[in-house]
Amino acid sequence: MRRKLVAGNWKMHGGLARNRALLDSLVQAVGTGGSADCAVCVPFPYLAQTQELLKGTALTWGAQTLSEHAQGAYTGEVSAAMLADFGCRYVLVGHSERRSLYGEGNETVAAKFVAAVQGGLTPVLCLGETLEQREGEITEKVIAAQLDAVVQAAGMNGLAKAVIAYEPVWAIGTGRTATPQQAQDVHAFIRARLAESDVALAQRLQILYGGSVKPQNAVELFGMADIDGGLIGGAALVAEDFLAICAAAAK
Ligand code: 13P
Repeated sequence: MRRKLVAGNWKMHGGLARNRALLDSLVQAVGTGGSADCAVCVPFPYLAQTQELLKGTALTWGAQTLSEHAQGAYTGEVSAAMLADFGCRYVLVGHSERRSLYGEGNETVAAKFVAAVQGGLTPVLCLGETLEQREGEITEKVIAAQLDAVVQAAGMNGLAKAVIAYEPVWAIGTGRTATPQQAQDVHAFIRARLAESDVALAQRLQILYGGSVKPQNAVELFGMADIDGGLIGGAALVAEDFLAICAAAAK
């Protein structure tokens, strides 16, 4: 069975005092580890604090985006090597908010994915359709195009170093979760598409679900055959909720 991963995406939330309280609670509860992995993806300025508080614990951490460039005159950007300096294991790539609010298309996402892999990070590649696309019955077409762009740029060897997160845009921050079956169907589609190139890798790859995951729905979602954990937004900001979701993944 694939090991499960629960990753929190704090988005643009946090503050030094609040982070400390949250991370301390997670460390106390997660201790030296359980049967699922637990990670937090924090805003850049909090990476140093996160590293200080989580180093040597069972928790891992990461960032929410990165530059596609390794270095250079790119004011405001942060490279994979800089994230690695702060002990990041993960970096989110292609989150729908980056795609829709910051104009990151499939090519940019693919370039960022490659930069992450080259920098020794594990990209968490986010894929997902909008409500309009789902209602237009082009979900699979959209997901395939998002996935194929990355496979083309990084190859299956690159994919082997990644985690995928299916996050239907209409379920993010809306309280409207995909049903376990709706999520399962897309996860199975992603796995089948990867299996066309590499069956063993497709079987091994972790595919997380994200979009209004809460303690109340996590057990059912994580019980589906192709759902290997979650990418958690709002509920990752409340220690009790995030820990309950991590516990659901450990079942
Ligand atoms: P919510 O869990 O708040 O819906 O956010 C999901 C998400 O975007 C995680 O990356």
